[in-house]
Amino acid sequence: MQSVETITALRAQVKAWRDHKYTVAFVPTMGNLHEGHLSLVKKASELADKVVVSIFVNPLQFDDKEDLSAYPRTVKADIQMLSSVGCDVIFTPSVDTMYPKGMTSHTHISVPDMDDKLCGLRRPGHFDGVATVVTKLLNIVQADIAVFGEKDYQQLLLIKHLVRDLNLPIDIVGGPTFRDESGLAMSSRNQYLSEKQRKQAAGLHQTLLAVKQNIERGEQDFSALQQDACNKLKLLGLAAEYVDIRRANDLGQAISGDKDLRILAAVRLGKARLIDNIACHLA
Ligand code: PAF
Repeated sequence: MQSVETITALRAQVKAWRDHKYTVAFVPTMGNLHEGHLSLVKKASELADKVVVSIFVNPLQFDDKEDLSAYPRTVKADIQMLSSVGCDVIFTPSVDTMYPKGMTSHTHISVPDMDDKLCGLRRPGHFDGVATVVTKLLNIVQADIAVFGEKDYQQLLLIKHLVRDLNLPIDIVGGPTFRDESGLAMSSRNQYLSEKQRKQAAGLHQTLLAVKQNIERGEQDFSALQQDACNKLKLLGLAAEYVDIRRANDLGQAISGDKDLRILAAVRLGKARLIDNIACHLA
């Protein structure tokens, strides 16, 4: 496994692979890797001959400066973890490499239909930051496939939309959310939780499962289900930003009769903002 920091070195490696007719998959990350990331890298290595993983804590997508400086950076441990799961090249660009003229006057990519809902509403500028850095990374790596976690479902759809709208020649693939035995979705932000809070946080997934069961039993009043779930989360000590039942393909407001749904939530617990979502398909 090789580690490269510059765009030139990365492109030279990808070109050498292309000359050998190898296919390439790409997994963008912000580091501080856990089992969830590793499962995406394993998936990437099943889908292509060579795998690039990027580690870049993208300042442009942090709406809160504190959060950016506190974001855990564990590159040495990340590199060790990646060596066992089929990663061929780790790309670790600096902020200067990605934004040589700074970020204020940098071209921004915006995906309007994802900005105005759910996490987009609560984190102004966040998805522009994600869309901008992902567009850059996809152009830098020029892989055949890129893998993103379903844990960040809105982000996954945003990237599918931008790839469609900008005609980028790449397939975007989602990888399932990796959970611990309590059901808590793996996230770098779980590190901000104490042992007690981790146990509380498991209530998020349980609450989403209960919403799903109610829908599957025929409950059609989505707004009542959402409100009820927020109340339950509050009793568990989880401050809900939202619990929302949406159409899975575009995150539009779901209405009675829609079959392919996604139930999404964001909560605050101590220093952490946690998000989760599950699928709900009706026959
Ligand atoms: O999901 C993440 O870790 C980040 O948002 C991503 C896609 C690597 C862009 O910085």
